[in-house]
Amino acid sequence: MTEPTAAAVVAPWWTSAVVYQVYPRSFADSNGDGIGDLRGIASKLDHLQLLGVDVIWLSPVYASPQDDAGYDISDYRAIDPSFGTLEDFDALLADVHSRGMKLVMDLVVNHTSDEHPWFVESRSSLDNPKRDWYWWRPTRPHMEPGAPGAEPTNWGSAFSGPAWDLDPLTGEYYLHLFSRKQPDLNWENPQVRAEIYAMMRWWLARGVDGFRMDVINFISKAVRADGSLPDGIVHDGALYGDGQPHFGCGPRLHEYLQEMHREVFAGRDVAPLTVGEMPGVTVDDAVLFTDPARAEVDMVFQFEHVGLDHGAGKFDVHPLRLTDLKASFGRWQAGLAEVGWNSLYWDNHDQPRIVSRFGDDGEHRELSATMLATVLHLHRGTPYVYQGEELAMTNAHFTSIDSYRDIESLNHYAEALAHGQANEDTLLASLRAMSRDNARTPVQWDATAQAGFTTGEPWIAVNPNYREINAAAQHDDPGSVFSFYRRLIELRHTEPVVALGDFTMLLADDEAVYAFVRSLEGTELLVLGNFTGAAQPVTLPNAQVWAGAELVIGNYSDPGVVDSLRPWEAQVWRRG
Ligand code: NOJ
Repeated sequence: MTEPTAAAVVAPWWTSAVVYQVYPRSFADSNGDGIGDLRGIASKLDHLQLLGVDVIWLSPVYASPQDDAGYDISDYRAIDPSFGTLEDFDALLADVHSRGMKLVMDLVVNHTSDEHPWFVESRSSLDNPKRDWYWWRPTRPHMEPGAPGAEPTNWGSAFSGPAWDLDPLTGEYYLHLFSRKQPDLNWENPQVRAEIYAMMRWWLARGVDGFRMDVINFISKAVRADGSLPDGIVHDGALYGDGQPHFGCGPRLHEYLQEMHREVFAGRDVAPLTVGEMPGVTVDDAVLFTDPARAEVDMVFQFEHVGLDHGAGKFDVHPLRLTDLKASFGRWQAGLAEVGWNSLYWDNHDQPRIVSRFGDDGEHRELSATMLATVLHLHRGTPYVYQGEELAMTNAHFTSIDSYRDIESLNHYAEALAHGQANEDTLLASLRAMSRDNARTPVQWDATAQAGFTTGEPWIAVNPNYREINAAAQHDDPGSVFSFYRRLIELRHTEPVVALGDFTMLLADDEAVYAFVRSLEGTELLVLGNFTGAAQPVTLPNAQVWAGAELVIGNYSDPGVVDSLRPWEAQVWRRG
């Protein structure tokens, strides 16, 4: 191993770490009920260890009615029976630690389930002590309760329909930015915050190594002095107002995150990993959130690059322009170069599979998947690998609405049809491209029935391409996508310039070739990626300096040349 440089010695541990996201429902099922579970995860730790990842992020495994696949929590200190027990959790955590890996929990505290005892109490009467733990508001003045438009604000929910529901019990509305079974917690109330911090400390005491914080930039709402919330602008063609300016990165967010840091994270021997999911966050915001001196979070998940193929909403799909991707990533790299830190991701449980999205999941599946991986992992920041990405799993390609399970997809389909916004074929085409279920089909472990995911009936169909695309076929094949990911992850561990080097974008105007340089203390890496299925010339500003450079990693069996890339080719050259 290379000796750590001076820069590496002071850098936090997660700058050279790679995180792997497990979506438990779809990872591995140990008991044949068709739903992945904790023992299933434990049975696959060899796979993760072989891959070489440092951290596992577990999507929610807490007790939940599963309206939004576990992002609706009814007990923060219990494991949902479909996933196992607290004993199973402790055993998994011990096993993860014994293999030198860490485990990060999902933290879903913008909202709870409507079946959480806090909400059950809160809704029970106007003067219940927990009434103020959620956002209850009266009907809009001069309107009939329950009439269309009588909601306290005109905001739409992320899962279609209004963001408010009228509760007949007390005749008031409650706010839910997501499903009606996910009421928003009121962070203005200090008791709510104290309960959440206590719960977080409880998990840390159990041994977990940090948190991925679900829509954490939605927790502070722009409430007016009289307690009302503002209406949002209704964009062209939209059914509801856009509330995000009034709850995204709201007025007290920095204060809450700093308080959370003080109450939960400060003063620990090994700093837990904190990553805040923040839809709509800008580079300037992110500098503040991730500046270590401000003690808020280590890094954020930003959404700019996964919005570049959206039109009016995520289901209005447009082709990606590579120059837009470069402009966006380039801005984030520059913006967080001096202060703060980036997270890097293509896939997660909310995004379609990257090989189907920005690559070619047909003829060039393996080449395009490894090119995309190379480009992402060679940026400065902490890379996240989503389960199955390391196998180049593809989108589901479902052809019937009956195959879908995701609440966002199903609600969007029903709402758009009901309002005549699109016909069935158009809607199915946009779900095929963008539905979250593309990422949620079971992990393809081997070529046996149900891809080795379950001995039962899976809760969502296995992708029929599992006979060709599966882990067993890739583990021992040095030319597989899995082996390529192993090498990429290893490179981050052993080559300090990958983790800590400066970033310089090249060829910003090129629509086919992605090119950049990383440099640290006299070592330089040139990273090239061909985003097309055709050969592409590469005209670098000072190509001659790369003559004689060594190829560190590439996705063709021979090194190739710097001035011309083959279809979907990736190359990383090193000099100095
Ligand atoms: C973001 C999560 O990633 C997504 O899966 C979930 O539906 C929403 N937040 C609501 O919790």
